[in-house]
Amino acid sequence: MANEFLNNINEFNLKEKYLSTNPEDSENPVFIKSEEYVNKDAAVQEKSSHEKSAIAVSTTNLSVWFNDKPGIENVNINIKKDSVTAIIGPSGCGKSTFLRALNFMHDLTPNAVVTGEINILGKDITEYNSIDIRKKVGMVFQKPNPFPTMSIYDNVISGLKLNWGHKKGLYDEIVETSLVQSGLWNEVKDRLKISAYSLSGGQQQRLCIARTLAVKPEIILMDEPTSALDPISTAGIEASIHDLKKIYTFIIVTHNMQQAARVSDFTAYFYLGKLIEHSKTSTVFTKPKEKLTEEYITGKFG
Ligand SMILES: Nc1ncnc2c1ncn2[C@@H]1O[C@H](COP(=O)(O)OP(=O)(O)OP(=O)(O)O)[C@@H](O)[C@H]1O
Ligand SMILES: [Mg+2]
Repeated sequence: MANEFLNNINEFNLKEKYLSTNPEDSENPVFIKSEEYVNKDAAVQEKSSHEKSAIAVSTTNLSVWFNDKPGIENVNINIKKDSVTAIIGPSGCGKSTFLRALNFMHDLTPNAVVTGEINILGKDITEYNSIDIRKKVGMVFQKPNPFPTMSIYDNVISGLKLNWGHKKGLYDEIVETSLVQSGLWNEVKDRLKISAYSLSGGQQQRLCIARTLAVKPEIILMDEPTSALDPISTAGIEASIHDLKKIYTFIIVTHNMQQAARVSDFTAYFYLGKLIEHSKTSTVFTKPKEKLTEEYITGKFG
């Protein structure tokens, strides 16, 4: 599987575009990780067919309108549980609009109208209230947004404190587990009570991921979570996503084609508000079914 994917990338002359070929990059964690990821994908293929067929998110004719103009139009998609789906496409094609529809965020937008159906974990989204949906579907934004006046520790438990009423005795364990899962624990375990603002951008983003994980959602939406980060922080977050997809479903918007190829199992390509193609990532990047997808991934536009 791994070799096949890499050979395909070679065959289609896309290696230069999607995986670094610079010899100096042999020490680059991003490059090394990409090979590891492909190898680990083989293990994911071993999951039982029952698990593979389980659907986390399904939409039927989903459209979102802003002042009578569509942000996305008639999107029909099934997203598998415990997998990573990358959402790609040129700026303005509706990636964020799609993501935001999956946890009621358009409710907060004046003049936004959502039509069609969204099914989350087997239930129509309208059967959830706005608190329940956020217990199931967490969101990580492009810019790290820790609470500035809170410590690292309090940031991690902030979602729990607001909505869950967990017993205080569990907080220490949840903080440690969430920070281990987001790959930040070793860097902050001796200074949990200092301000979250003293962390670097990459650390703050991993803190925001820990805050999302602490709530134990089942689906995690990420809108360009590493676009402001350096390659090492990016590799750390990609590694966390890869480890966590055994227990969470990730839907990640990215402009970084290499990142989509590295971290995702499936890729959805949006163009002008429409879902053009949704396939296995290896297919999208090597033998896309649609000409529009091919033009985008080969850099003809976008
Ligand atoms: N609140 C809003 N009011 C009006 N139009 C909006 C609003 N949010 C999004 N749109 C429009 O919907 C379309 C899709 O926007 P969206 O933010 O989803 O694009 P995107 O693919 O995430 O782009 P980018 O890659 O630049 O983040 C755009 O034409 C945008 O102008
Ligand atoms: Mg966007």
